[in-house]
Amino acid sequence: MDDVNFSIVGCGRIGTRHAEHISRLARLNSICDVDEQALQKMKEKYPHVNVYHSIDELLENDKDSQVINICTPNGLHAEHTIKALRADRHVVCEKPMALTVNDAQQMIEEAHSAHKHLFIVKQNRFNPPVQKVKDVLNKGLLGKIYSAQINCFWNRNERYYHDSPWKGTKNLDGGILFTQFSHFIDILLWFLGEVDLNTIAAFSENFSHKDTIEFEDTLVAVFKFKNGTLATINCTINSFNKNMEGSVTLFGEKGTVKIGGQYLNVLEYQNIENFKIEEIKEHRPANDYGYYQGSMSNHDKVIENVLDVLKRNGKVAVNGYEGLKTVEIIEHIYNSLDKKEVSSTVFNQSITAI
Ligand SMILES: NC(=O)c1ccc[n+]([C@@H]2O[C@H](COP(=O)([O-])OP(=O)(O)OC[C@H]3O[C@@H](n4cnc5c(N)ncnc54)[C@H](O)[C@@H]3O)[C@@H](O)[C@H]2O)c1
Repeated sequence: MDDVNFSIVGCGRIGTRHAEHISRLARLNSICDVDEQALQKMKEKYPHVNVYHSIDELLENDKDSQVINICTPNGLHAEHTIKALRADRHVVCEKPMALTVNDAQQMIEEAHSAHKHLFIVKQNRFNPPVQKVKDVLNKGLLGKIYSAQINCFWNRNERYYHDSPWKGTKNLDGGILFTQFSHFIDILLWFLGEVDLNTIAAFSENFSHKDTIEFEDTLVAVFKFKNGTLATINCTINSFNKNMEGSVTLFGEKGTVKIGGQYLNVLEYQNIENFKIEEIKEHRPANDYGYYQGSMSNHDKVIENVLDVLKRNGKVAVNGYEGLKTVEIIEHIYNSLDKKEVSSTVFNQSITAI
């Protein structure tokens, strides 16, 4: 296989990153968006590309693209992925893979029946400190992991939500665990394995975004992994004025490590029995969207993985099943919130009856 042809569906902020890396590492053949301005902006940069206004139009007319990169709002990932798989294309799907386990399952089944690859974008797994800690865990150097913490203190203001109207909606965005913090959950699952879903408890509030978003701006959750590790998630988009921290900390029998910075890009703390993680030189910047910053800009690694799989029979870095595991725990956390609301309503009614 010579050049692999890619198409991008959704030419917004992250679609633009995909385009940069695809055009450097392979060939960008077509782009698709429902927004004419987004299309024109990208066409100016890549004048040779074919331009389409819907995924159906793209799949019908562009027969050369082997890979379709889905960079549309979260709630459209399942529909767009399934269409592309049914049209016999490989799919690179942005995180979160889907907003429900049902949708994620269907995406996996469609990929199987089409005999096509489904790549889920989790580029933070390639962050150098994350890779080093994964290696330490694989070698058992931390011993039993007693507890783990995800702390995410970011800022997402009114302007952020205004600029992408789908963000903040229940149907297309889904919640801060899906859009802002799913990377952190993915890393924890990658490190520690399966969560005992029956142990999940969570609380959430919308403190300062009531006029802007349809869900929480702050959430805390506790749960237990099947291996016994206790875990907490403490996250908010109310960090005053700017992002403050995005970290994963592990307390093990033989060591403590904290990967932090704002985007899991810095090894902030290590104290391991008879071992030291060597100095990490490469500190890549985050994806910079002007007035706010997102996760690490490692999308080149994602495209390289696609090329490795298609050209050299390599292994898919993050497959559909791994994408589903993150969706599953987020769905359980949100369901546990709904259950609490229901039971407190029943309780209040019984008091009124007395
Ligand atoms: N991997 C990461 O770190 C990372 C970072 C940012 C965003 N994302 C994910 O990427 C996706 C897009 O996020 P974004 O920040 O680029 O959003 P965005 O709003 O900047 O871009 C989304 C684009 O999709 C287009 N679109 C909407 N409906 C469409 C349809 N039916 N067909 C074709 N195009 C359509 C919009 O017009 C817009 O241009 C989301 O799922 C988000 O979670 C991932």
